[in-house]
Amino acid sequence: MLIRALTLFRRAVPASRFCPCATGRTQQYCTSAKNISIRDALTSLDTGSNIRIRGWVRSVRSQKNHLFLHVSDGSSLQPLQVIANSDLNIRGLTFGCAVDITGSLEKSPSQKQKVELQAQRVEVVGECDPVDFPFKIKERHSLEYIRQFPHLRCRTNSFGSLLRIRSEAAAAIHSYFRDNGFVQIHTPIITSNDCEGAGELFQVEVSQLSDKENPHFFSVPAYLTVSGQLHLEVMAGAFPAVYTFGPTFRAENSQSRRHLAEFYMAEAEISFIESLEDLMKVMEDLFKTSTEHLLSQCAEDMGLFHKFISPGQRWGCDLQTEHEKFLVKHCGNVPVFVTDYPYDLKPFYARDNQDQPRHTAAAVDLLVPGVGELCGGSLREERLELLKTRLARAGLEDTYAWYLQLRQFGSVPHGGFGMGFERYLQCVLGVKNIKDTIPFARSSRSCLL
Ligand code: 4AD
Repeated sequence: MLIRALTLFRRAVPASRFCPCATGRTQQYCTSAKNISIRDALTSLDTGSNIRIRGWVRSVRSQKNHLFLHVSDGSSLQPLQVIANSDLNIRGLTFGCAVDITGSLEKSPSQKQKVELQAQRVEVVGECDPVDFPFKIKERHSLEYIRQFPHLRCRTNSFGSLLRIRSEAAAAIHSYFRDNGFVQIHTPIITSNDCEGAGELFQVEVSQLSDKENPHFFSVPAYLTVSGQLHLEVMAGAFPAVYTFGPTFRAENSQSRRHLAEFYMAEAEISFIESLEDLMKVMEDLFKTSTEHLLSQCAEDMGLFHKFISPGQRWGCDLQTEHEKFLVKHCGNVPVFVTDYPYDLKPFYARDNQDQPRHTAAAVDLLVPGVGELCGGSLREERLELLKTRLARAGLEDTYAWYLQLRQFGSVPHGGFGMGFERYLQCVLGVKNIKDTIPFARSSRSCLL
């Protein structure tokens, strides 16, 4: 049944557009020009092949009888050089316009690129007035400048690189957890809990109240999640290791360069662990594995940031001591992992170290240079009586009756942490403002688009 549906689906969706190569075939069946991404074209060994690319013009230069174009399609930082005969008389060919080009992929005589495209046909698909276009050819615009154009900044080199790195970093985080036996849990975005107890909640209601008797759509006040932790703790009662990676919301009235109202967090919860050391190992591994992946898989894009935006950010052996010093200084001369916070400063779920008179909780933060807190985590209070007393003191015993039940039935020592994804990108790329690490930034008094 399923296979049949797939076959029917394929038949029911023929390519309706014809290839512009004039063979009369649809694009799907045309063999004369192969659609190819610029990234694949740049690494292709198939010189002499007839290819078709589509993208946006990054530069146009006229020389004698030829036009030299650089075309990008988002697949790589490096554009493809296209050489077109001036006779082609292409209307509307400017910096920023969208083009559809077919031609022959040839070995380039220049040292700057291995291959170039000798165009037979150049079609301008969408014109772009270079006077009105906010980005100018050959200018290196700052991140602050391009931030003013959230609908256009993906067309710049720097933000294009950021978006590719972000996508790869997200994949690396998922891979890390999957490779280490974590089960992914889709924790809810709408919840009635305030996990962190800090009251930084966005309330969710229908825009027009129809039932005056029952003022809440969900019967109770509901909010956008500030953390998936409590839902992960539910799952930690059946799985040894779980994680979630999704959007998180905090109504922080902060205009700081480290806070967003909507950000992404990777959160892990691990059962049967009894020390912060076990937790710190996972934090460190996650950071190192993801960063090594980015350095090897996004070398060119990372290079752009390390060269132009934050020189000296790439961590190498010769910089290690300097960075360590920086870290220590940054953290006020305390170790990078800060552990065992005063008990009363931590949320109800943090495990009591029972170390009177100091009285701390088994909580840990990972601090990194230039950013500060990157991860926050703790061992959780798994002992029913201690948790009950703490919740009762806060008047939350009824609200968290279900959470108490987790400690009643097969409770195990466990702990977890959350890593802010945008802060992670800030850290590895050396980006000062968190708004430059997310496709569409939301912070108080700023929700463009
Ligand atoms: O330290 P936090 O508040 O920890 C928790 O939410 C735990 N419940 C996580 C857990 O144990 N599962 O937040 C975790 C991280 C911070 O270290 C920071 O990197 C990031 O989330 N973060 C923010 N990032 C951007 N904008 C904000 N407003 C952020 N608030 C926290």
